[in-house]
Amino acid sequence: MRIVLLGAPAAGKGTQCKSIATQYGLLHLSSGDILRHQRAAGTELGKKAQSYMDSGALVPDEIIIEMMTKAIDKAPAVGFILDGFPRTVNQAVELDKSLACRRHEIDAVLNLKIDDRTAAKRITGRRSCPRCGAVYHIENLKPKVEGICDNDGTELVQRPDDSPEVVANRLRTYHEQIEPLVDYYRNNSTVYDIDADRDVDEVRACVFENLDALVKA
Ligand code: AP5
Repeated sequence: MRIVLLGAPAAGKGTQCKSIATQYGLLHLSSGDILRHQRAAGTELGKKAQSYMDSGALVPDEIIIEMMTKAIDKAPAVGFILDGFPRTVNQAVELDKSLACRRHEIDAVLNLKIDDRTAAKRITGRRSCPRCGAVYHIENLKPKVEGICDNDGTELVQRPDDSPEVVANRLRTYHEQIEPLVDYYRNNSTVYDIDADRDVDEVRACVFENLDALVKA
């Protein structure tokens, strides 16, 4: 299965992708996580992406498309789930071209929908582990010990781009891009609109229901 997951900042893309990847054996490819790893490693790509990410703007298409198509090339035959990519119609078109060269295509698009106020609340409360990348929330998904990662005992941190000013810009950027992107996918693939303004478990159940039907079809 080759799946694209769309959604506003903090819609729960990363949270849901981890469950989807485990349930269906897919490779989870998050453009944001790959960029953050590149930055932490101090690579040229990471340095190029830095100023865009810190301001809440999109990293230029040519950088992202090359980075993601290389990552997708390494995916197992069972498939992948893309988290945060594509984010523009141009990225979606280039992704489709690259998949078509291998006689592949996107099987489904999951469109997680929340309003901006919910997004802002989720972002403010998000804490993540700088070592293993685990994501928590100070109210909705607490670690066993406050401020400490359950997996490796590392102190949890807030992402630098989760400040209110940058979040406002990330939401603005999302709204500018999302409609044409969803329109593109409605014309080229199957889009499932998912109400993501519910508990994590309820959103997951709805996603699994749609994907199970797709697998059986
Ligand atoms: P990226 O890392 O992709 O950020 P984003 O899209 O803003 O998404 P987030 O990671 O903030 O949120 P999420 O939807 O994964 O939510 P999460 O599961 O963590 O991109 C960062 C930057 O990189 C971009 O701004 C851009 O500069 C650049 N970039 C990346 N991709 C690019 C591309 N394709 N093109 C150009 N530039 C690109 O959940 C959030 C919080 O809510 C957590 O605390 C979680 O515990 C909680 N939560 C999740 N679900 C629920 C629920 N159902 N109920 C209650 N709480 C919940």
